[in-house]
Amino acid sequence: MFSLNFSLNFVLMSSLFLIKVSHQETVLAKYVKVELNSGDLMPLIGLGTSRLNEQELVRNSLDFALASGYRLIDSAAVYRNEELIGKALKELLPKYNLTRKDVFITTKLAPYDQGETAYMALERSLKNLNTDYVDLYLIHSPRVVGVNLSDSQISQRRDQSWQQLVRAKKNGLTKNIGVSNYDIEHLSELLKNDHAVKPAVNQVKWNPHYHQDDLLRFCQKEGILLQAYSSLGGTGDKDLLNDEEIKKIASKLGKSPAQVLLRWAFQENIAVIPKARSKEHLEQNIDLNFIIPEADMKILNSINRIPLP
Ligand SMILES: NC(=O)c1ccc[n+]([C@@H]2O[C@H](COP(=O)([O-])OP(=O)(O)OC[C@H]3O[C@@H](n4cnc5c(N)ncnc54)[C@H](OP(=O)(O)O)[C@@H]3O)[C@@H](O)[C@H]2O)c1
Repeated sequence: MFSLNFSLNFVLMSSLFLIKVSHQETVLAKYVKVELNSGDLMPLIGLGTSRLNEQELVRNSLDFALASGYRLIDSAAVYRNEELIGKALKELLPKYNLTRKDVFITTKLAPYDQGETAYMALERSLKNLNTDYVDLYLIHSPRVVGVNLSDSQISQRRDQSWQQLVRAKKNGLTKNIGVSNYDIEHLSELLKNDHAVKPAVNQVKWNPHYHQDDLLRFCQKEGILLQAYSSLGGTGDKDLLNDEEIKKIASKLGKSPAQVLLRWAFQENIAVIPKARSKEHLEQNIDLNFIIPEADMKILNSINRIPLP
């Protein structure tokens, strides 16, 4: 299940759960961490927070999430919830006898802050989150607000951002740095510029209706962890959850379509950050201790894909 055939290694999160990881056995998925190319460990399942932007909503979602075992929170400057998350964690970490180092916090550089201002943008995010460091800071998008996609300045601004992120990592503002929505071309450009630190993570849209297998292979070759967003199709989009093939597999396995979608990625060593508000959804999404048989993985991998001749 957690094959080590690429450079990322999987370990269990707590010594209390020393369960042998093998293809046949179920593992407490919520305790699985992946080793990033920096050597740091990151939970393979986390909580997405886009559109969670009211204090009570954030507080309650984080409360249910921490109680269910989530230890990774994915935020971004553009979600406008960093401050709300900071406040909620101040109250909730002691409630669960946790400290800052027990949770992995990700936030992202807004496209309007790309360039030399990236360092200051991270300082602002830290202040909002009420913390001295984040565990992962991502360039949210290869796009730069105000610069056309065809303008050569855009590559320069991305490079300036990356240099600022490298500086922030050196200075301890963030433990890891990475990117989001980068395709092979963007990653190749970044690696060619060679600023000594490779992205630890590339966070991209990834679900059975939308996945770029060549990008996954490229990331695996370079030791960059692929982290999926919109694993359930995204807020307001029920196409995936209502897909007949997915529903059929879910009913056969006695799981919900959401669990099948998350387990599908997880089983391919892809990190997931489903967003949910209700206790029921939050608990379901982290309960991934089952195996999708190979034949069903093949079906999920070929949904809406043109079959090879
Ligand atoms: N880097 C980027 O550019 C980028 C882009 C998009 C998202 N993200 C990150 O990825 C996270 C997840 O992606 P996403 O927010 O687009 O969408 P998602 O996780 O694919 O889907 C969220 C939707 O699914 C519903 N849901 C959650 N669990 C469910 C379950 N067990 N059964 C049925 N429905 C369920 C949620 O409803 P309730 O809320 O009502 O529970 C919500 O409407 C975001 O929150 C954000 O942190 C990053």
